[in-house]
Amino acid sequence: MTVTEPVLSLQSVNLELKTPDGYVRILRDVTFDVAPGEIVGVVGESGSGKSMTALTVMRLLPPKARVQAARIGFDGDDLATTSPRALRRVRGKRIGMVFQDPMTSLDPVIQVGRQIDEAYRIHHPGVGRAEARAQTVRMLELVGVPDAANRARQYPHQWSGGMRQRAVIAMALVNDPKLILADEPTTALDATIQAQVLDALARARDELGVAVVLITHDLGVIAQFASRVIVMYAGGVVEVATTRELFEDSRHPYSAALIQSRPGAHRRGEPLVAIPGRPPLMTDLPEGCPFAPRCASPYKSAVCVTDRPELERSVDGRLSACHFRDHHQEVVA
Ligand SMILES: Nc1ncnc2c1ncn2[C@@H]1O[C@H](COP(=O)(O)OP(=O)(O)OP(=O)(O)O)[C@@H](O)[C@H]1O
Ligand code: SF4
Ligand SMILES: [Mg+2]
Repeated sequence: MTVTEPVLSLQSVNLELKTPDGYVRILRDVTFDVAPGEIVGVVGESGSGKSMTALTVMRLLPPKARVQAARIGFDGDDLATTSPRALRRVRGKRIGMVFQDPMTSLDPVIQVGRQIDEAYRIHHPGVGRAEARAQTVRMLELVGVPDAANRARQYPHQWSGGMRQRAVIAMALVNDPKLILADEPTTALDATIQAQVLDALARARDELGVAVVLITHDLGVIAQFASRVIVMYAGGVVEVATTRELFEDSRHPYSAALIQSRPGAHRRGEPLVAIPGRPPLMTDLPEGCPFAPRCASPYKSAVCVTDRPELERSVDGRLSACHFRDHHQEVVA
């Protein structure tokens, strides 16, 4: 059996942010891998640390943030120990980024194509305008922008929201990255346009072999586009599973509650229906399992309140952060 090296490998990533009341632990031992060319979904309620995980990889953090990690392996490097200067060469070149609002990435007063040309030329000194533009047009065509050569000369306000997000994806792809970090890339778009934009991203993956970390609230998006899923709760990973395993046989009571609270099978564009109760405040995490106050598992017991469960494998090889990971069937039934 050949073992493929992951393109991204987070090992025990911890993050603390400075607040007026002192440092707050935002991420706790976040651990997961992404294989080359794979689309991995990251799901979890608001505040669970999805965006902070992506921003920690890129070290695009608020001032005075403290990162402690065993390793943030990326394509042969350890980003946890890479210099800020070297990181600048990773961002936008070897890792592309797509955020929820395309206007955070686009300058309203510069032609769309010119912005993508510049993203290419920054990392390819010596490349002429014509060559950069040819690459821009290739990328715009790949993500499904019609009449790309002409539209490249238009300004962002002349593009629809969905087309702007395609432009941002083209910009993220223009330097042939190994990985795209996409944080709620289609949440601001209506459902039909969402699907088209995600199809474009999936096509880019097929054609270029780029891996994608797809952060989303939307389990329908996960079901359709991700091959594996990272479930986050209160700054930690509570389950890692293939998409099929998650939907058919989730192991962590939080994942099970997410799946069960879905309004309809594989329906897109629906927000997650609230699970009773609220996630804990990061400033006031319970000592034991952070999900304990909301957990409906019949196995929940004293140990849940006293000991925090780690992300570990069950006897049949599934990863979850629950003391009762080997008693899941009864929980889900
Ligand atoms: N600048 C900051 N200073 C202190 N805490 C912050 C800061 N930014 C975010 N946080 C906290 O970090 C935690 C994780 O936030 P994050 O943005 O990663 O959540 P998320 O899972 O992306 O949520 P959403 O689904 O709403 O985007 C939250 O508790 C949030 O309040
Ligand atoms: S460790 Fe206990 S409280 Fe936490 S998810 Fe498992 S059963 Fe529920
Ligand atoms: Mg977020």
